[in-house]
Amino acid sequence: MEKSLVLLKPEALRRNLVGKLIERLERAGLIVEELKMSQFDREVIAELYKEHKDKSFFDDIVSHMSENKIVAIVIKSEGNTIRKIRKLIGSTDPIEAAPGTIRGDFAFKMEPDNLIHASDSQEAAKRELKLFF
Ligand code: PPS
Repeated sequence: MEKSLVLLKPEALRRNLVGKLIERLERAGLIVEELKMSQFDREVIAELYKEHKDKSFFDDIVSHMSENKIVAIVIKSEGNTIRKIRKLIGSTDPIEAAPGTIRGDFAFKMEPDNLIHASDSQEAAKRELKLFF
């Protein structure tokens, strides 16, 4: 089975959406293999977002994600798990995310975060899973 990393970001915890978001994943046939809720070191989060280290939001997102608890999930399914999850969570910017997607239904703007992260390729998934599990 193809595995991927999903992170439920601080805003998902603050708004008590953890159960609802996991239900969306499970309803789409995705299987939760491992799960942990924790505050992760700044270095781990900086490594996750290293491709974006020159972007204006880098420091803010690293602080926000490392100064609050998040839920890290190893998710798997038969077939193309990564594509399935990316479709399910919707566009990065919640304003662009289609109704029926997680961000389209639950996130209304980027600030302070867009609720959920999912790896965007098999290479990214391997790298990101090692960081959190
Ligand atoms: S993507 O998904 O990689 O194609 O999107 P991208 O636009 O390159 O964004 C990369 C990650 O940065 C987050 N992001 C932001 N966070 C906070 N504030 C602002 N303005 C912002 N813009 C982009 C975006 O959610 C992506 O993080 P993840 O965790 O993958 O969602």
